[in-house]
Amino acid sequence: MLRDTRVTPPPAGRAPPAAADPRLALRSALGRFATGVTVIAAQTADKHVHCMTVNSFASLSLDPPLILWTLRTQSARYQTFSKTEEFSVSVLAETQIDIARKHAAPPPEGFAHRGWKAYLKGCPIIEGASAHFICKGHTEVNKGDHVILVGEVTEFAEHHYPPLVFMGGKYYSSSSLKPL
Ligand SMILES: Cc1cc2nc3c(=O)[nH]c(=O)nc-3n(C[C@H](O)[C@H](O)[C@H](O)COP(=O)(O)O)c2cc1C
Repeated sequence: MLRDTRVTPPPAGRAPPAAADPRLALRSALGRFATGVTVIAAQTADKHVHCMTVNSFASLSLDPPLILWTLRTQSARYQTFSKTEEFSVSVLAETQIDIARKHAAPPPEGFAHRGWKAYLKGCPIIEGASAHFICKGHTEVNKGDHVILVGEVTEFAEHHYPPLVFMGGKYYSSSSLKPL
């Protein structure tokens, strides 16, 4: 049974809106965890490039170099990404909010593209991103309504564009963040 036990009273006047549905309350609490925003891209045998905006990306291991992300099993993109042997992760720059929105749209918008221009080591990527990771192979772990996909990093590149941040359902620019 999912229970919402708000143990920390928020400061007066700054209470987050209470959600009647415990799942919405859980989603709201999870949204307190700020993340970057990535686009996962893969090319199919018929040369279509499939893309998906993802913020569940995380580093998993340095030796061997592994990353992971999670994919909703009911997603229209499930068939592509659960089967691909190679995919890229582009960590979006703060100027790329339109790209994040486009690749979060249901298919066909932002989903299957022809004539893709930007590649790294033969894998489609988002140009102008903060970092790129090319990943081979993956292991699926089915958990709840998502699968965990693990990729081995075979190539990566870092660029000095400030990354886009996602928190509480909103996008933020990282260059306006203050170091503490
Ligand atoms: C910022 C952001 C992060 C997202 N992260 C994920 C994710 O980690 N895993 C996932 O399955 N969907 C994620 N989504 C949802 C997909 O991008 C997409 O919107 C959703 O899958 C709807 O299309 P579908 O019909 O292909 O599922 C995210 C969406 C946004 C806007």
